[in-house]
Amino acid sequence: MVVLGIETSCDDTAAAVVVEGKILSNIIFSQWVHSRFGGVVPELAARSHIRILPPVVKEALSVAGLTLSDIEGIAVTYGPGLVVSLVLGLSYAKSLAYALKIPFIGVNHLEGHIFSNLLVHKDLTLPFLNLIVSGGHTELVVVREKGSYEVIGSTLDDAAGEAFDKVAKLLGMGYPGGPEIEMKAREGDPGFVQFPRGKVKEYDFSFSGLKTAVLYYLDDLEEKEKKTHLSDIAASFQEAVVDSLVAKTLKAAKFCKLNQIALSGGVSANKRLREKLMEKADGRKVFYPSLNLCTDNAAMIAAAGLERLKKGERSPFTLKAKARLTLGEVNNRK
Ligand code: KG4
Ligand code: ZN
Repeated sequence: MVVLGIETSCDDTAAAVVVEGKILSNIIFSQWVHSRFGGVVPELAARSHIRILPPVVKEALSVAGLTLSDIEGIAVTYGPGLVVSLVLGLSYAKSLAYALKIPFIGVNHLEGHIFSNLLVHKDLTLPFLNLIVSGGHTELVVVREKGSYEVIGSTLDDAAGEAFDKVAKLLGMGYPGGPEIEMKAREGDPGFVQFPRGKVKEYDFSFSGLKTAVLYYLDDLEEKEKKTHLSDIAASFQEAVVDSLVAKTLKAAKFCKLNQIALSGGVSANKRLREKLMEKADGRKVFYPSLNLCTDNAAMIAAAGLERLKKGERSPFTLKAKARLTLGEVNNRK
């Protein structure tokens, strides 16, 4: 089955063509318009999706060497995300499916992130533990079967990516902050400042205290010191996030007796996170996707949709965008 995937849940406009286990094209247009505002401006994101989505879909078809008549199903993100962005991709996908008279399926963005590993790692078998770390989510998910997920931990406040973005702003860096902090941190000493590791129960996470600790630390620092030690502060902050993520993930893997750990979402692009998790994994296998599948993309949406379409699942044309869709709601769709 040839599936066209569409993703517009935040500030990336993406389209991809996927057939059973194979990516034929994966086009991502990242909206740089938000960088000067230090975060995503929903109205600007929506306007940009309207303009960019049709050419991005055209490009995805062209790279795949296909035309619209070759597409057998359409998968689109319907939540969670910015509602003004979601509705644009959703309406576009519905119209296309209606005009082409082909099946259409709404996909949970988080399920998409889980499929980013399943799509490329044929040796990743069920069950496994998935840490989804992105700008909007930090969730530990036990994946026992495709399409059914048990969320065993999540953030009580900020998402890990959100913490990277907010601290980058405090440090005078651009948006998105994760890649900038990672780059600066490479030259820094991760032991320079002992920032707190959020202490919360079981497999949950907390990053807002860490962000505040960085804020207070910077408040007490002279401008000259800040400049001299920028890379040390970035490295110390990154280490605190990575330590929390790695500790909770391994605790969960031990408790659930899972020997495969998958990392996905934008923050999984972070090399220090990958390295430290592998270093501490104690024989467990660690999987992560290639860089263009870590951050938001439509190939993962097409892959998750393809799995559901194959089982005969279809979404009605009345499907609405859901800003706060959870993984639990997907389980109930079976
Ligand atoms: O998955 P994603 O593209 O969008 C959401 O679903 O949120 O994730 C974006 C997030 C941003 O917060 C960005 O700062 C973070 O992922 N990110 C990183 C890195 N690359 C992207 N964080 C840390 N290190 C990176 N290399
Ligand atoms: Zn995402």
